[in-house]
Amino acid sequence: MTLKSYRIYLIVLAVMILGLMALGAGVRTMNAGLSCPDWPLCFGKVIPDFHPAVWFEFVHRAYAGVVALLYAAALVIAFRRKDLSQISRKSLRLAAGWGTLFLSAQIIMGGLTVLMLVKAVIVTTHLLLATLFLGAVLWMYFVVDRELSSQAVSETKTSLKSETWLPGWPVVILPVLVFSQIAIGGLVASTYAGSVCVDWPLCNGKWVPTWKGAIGLQVIHRFVAYALVALFVGLAVWAVTAARAGAKTVLPARVRGLFLFAGVIVILQTVVGILNLLFYIPPHITVPHQTLAMILLGITLRLWFEARSARLLGAVELVGGGVSDKASRAQAGLQASEAGGGQTSVDVVLS
Ligand code: HEM
Repeated sequence: MTLKSYRIYLIVLAVMILGLMALGAGVRTMNAGLSCPDWPLCFGKVIPDFHPAVWFEFVHRAYAGVVALLYAAALVIAFRRKDLSQISRKSLRLAAGWGTLFLSAQIIMGGLTVLMLVKAVIVTTHLLLATLFLGAVLWMYFVVDRELSSQAVSETKTSLKSETWLPGWPVVILPVLVFSQIAIGGLVASTYAGSVCVDWPLCNGKWVPTWKGAIGLQVIHRFVAYALVALFVGLAVWAVTAARAGAKTVLPARVRGLFLFAGVIVILQTVVGILNLLFYIPPHITVPHQTLAMILLGITLRLWFEARSARLLGAVELVGGGVSDKASRAQAGLQASEAGGGQTSVDVVLS
């Protein structure tokens, strides 16, 4: 499989995982989670007799099986690829390793969800493992995407200079914050805390009726959301300002676009969250609410990836030699390691 086809394969797989998660949310909101009372079989059969709820749950399981097989193929390909630079090969294998870990834990957790009668903590862990698995596959996609871009840059002999962006470590906080909000959302959903107060902006007539119990959980979910809106909208405004002529920060168009995209998605997500309350958690609102959360996480992961790549590429400059301009040196780091074998300058940076 060519590297380009592999990139398409990975993004299709990521979209399929997103679809699988949406289906999972649908199963939960339609209370079909225990329609198959046993696991891994359903009513003792590989293919159960037809009943709408049973088939909803069965399709979720069968679809999960297909995703697992497709991932296994992606994993094998990741470890067999010879056309990657040293940095990319290492990153791809690492992400694939994490993905395997999350998927294995997820398969066990999926079974426990059924066997332990859909306990809230288990349902939430199931959501979080799915989120981490999606994150790992997205990361694999990012690595292959960066590799293809770097190859294209070297073919056209253009400089990476305009792409250089060294924002430092704080970017990693963004996916951590979104992941935390997803965890709180998962708890809200799995404890049915979404329906304990359905007015907005107040909750049962107060801003904070209590910080405890199901109501407290929903209130926390709301306030974390407002903080995220302030943060991401602030970052989007900063990104636009940073693009102005004469601004000190070097922000490539792609990164600026990601900040803007995050700002738009977080607002949309908040509107959908509010509608979710006002319309009493219907599946056609709660499922997009979950999907938007994953899209927001994906954007922040990409930002983290961009920051990490910029740092790695920047670091190559410190140990690379014989190339005049900073960006070209970074590029050379990726290319040099492509020859494979040996302890290249990039290896030194990564070790
Ligand atoms: C950045 C903003 C937000 C993120 C990332 C987020 C994320 C999530 C996630 C991942 C879930 C679990 C979905 C599932 O498993 O099906 C959830 C549930 C929920 N969220 Fe949010 N949310 C955000 C903002 C909001 C806001 C502003 C509100 C309302 C004011 C809200 C109300 C709810 C409700 C009611 C549920 C429970 C849905 C159910 O029972 O199925 N969310 N959220």
